[in-house]
Amino acid sequence: MRARVFSGMQPSGNLHIGNYLGALKNWVRIQQEYECIFCIVDLHAVTVYQEPAALRAKIEEIAGLYLAAGIDPQVSAVMVQSAVPEHAELAWMLTCVTPVGWLERMTQYKAKAAKQESVGDGLLQYPVLMAADILLYQAAIVPVGDDQAQHLELTRDIAQRFNSLYGETFVMPATSLPSVGARIMGLDDPQVKMSKSETGAGHAVGLLDPPDKARKAIMRATTDSAPGVDFDNLGPGVANLLTIYQAFSGWTDDQMRKHFAGMRYGDLKKQVADVVIAHLEPFQKRYREIMGERGYVARVLAESAFRVRPLAAATVELAKRRMGLYTAE
Ligand code: TYM
Repeated sequence: MRARVFSGMQPSGNLHIGNYLGALKNWVRIQQEYECIFCIVDLHAVTVYQEPAALRAKIEEIAGLYLAAGIDPQVSAVMVQSAVPEHAELAWMLTCVTPVGWLERMTQYKAKAAKQESVGDGLLQYPVLMAADILLYQAAIVPVGDDQAQHLELTRDIAQRFNSLYGETFVMPATSLPSVGARIMGLDDPQVKMSKSETGAGHAVGLLDPPDKARKAIMRATTDSAPGVDFDNLGPGVANLLTIYQAFSGWTDDQMRKHFAGMRYGDLKKQVADVVIAHLEPFQKRYREIMGERGYVARVLAESAFRVRPLAAATVELAKRRMGLYTAE
């Protein structure tokens, strides 16, 4: 039996090249090797207010982006979290074995909570629901970007605690990070990661941005005052541009050094823009084709949910038995 893979993205904000290079690109690469489930985590999105009509549209947009990137729905499941109610059900059981202190230590929680006047309980519970997503399918591998590594550690802690209290129940999931592109930084500020919730012009390159907008953002990216690329002394902005190039091109470190050493920043940016746009254009064409086929995405989502539901139900049944909750004999 092939090992199972689970990962997901929130349907909030616009997916950008960081989401693609940190996660989606890896998903496409490994889908033939593993049994993959790729989720659109709408229950996570509503931990902060989402305008309902926009959220509904965003869910199908994200599914369309997964498919345009090359996820094959004949091979992998592409499903929406709230279509499988066992996610929320298992989350409750896991909540009951999770100390609040573990959740209060999460850096993403601290960052998001600092931006709110009143912090919703969902924001604190967020990583427990994420643990439920993964453990529900007994996933062995979770391909994500670097910012999710702490949540994955917590997932293992929660699984371990449940297993030691109630007996072996959950597979321990491993984190899988890409070797290049695990943390793409903001183009306008290379000290912060590129983020969906950051809407300033010039911060990110969105996967659906028109090519001229993408080029403009890259040409305006923050660098430093050195005359050209010095691999022994790379500033964060230049390092980020090189990472973006390397992740899109698949070049080795050696190829990168030979080609870019000493290059002036203006030329570097032009080449980064070229490689990004060369990938975005065919991607956006596929996206338009997929979304143009009426009812196609909805069908993929329905079929995938139908396929994975029995896996989720089996785990919930097992967890209930372990805990002594009521199950039909
Ligand atoms: P989300 O929606 O913020 O991001 C989706 C994926 O993109 C990666 N990512 C990045 N990678 C590189 N550079 C960046 N600047 C960058 N920004 C985002 C993220 O690491 C992620 O892999 N909590 C998750 C969603 C989730 C999930 C799960 C993931 C819910 N349940 C179960 C895996 C397994 C999130 O908010 O991702």
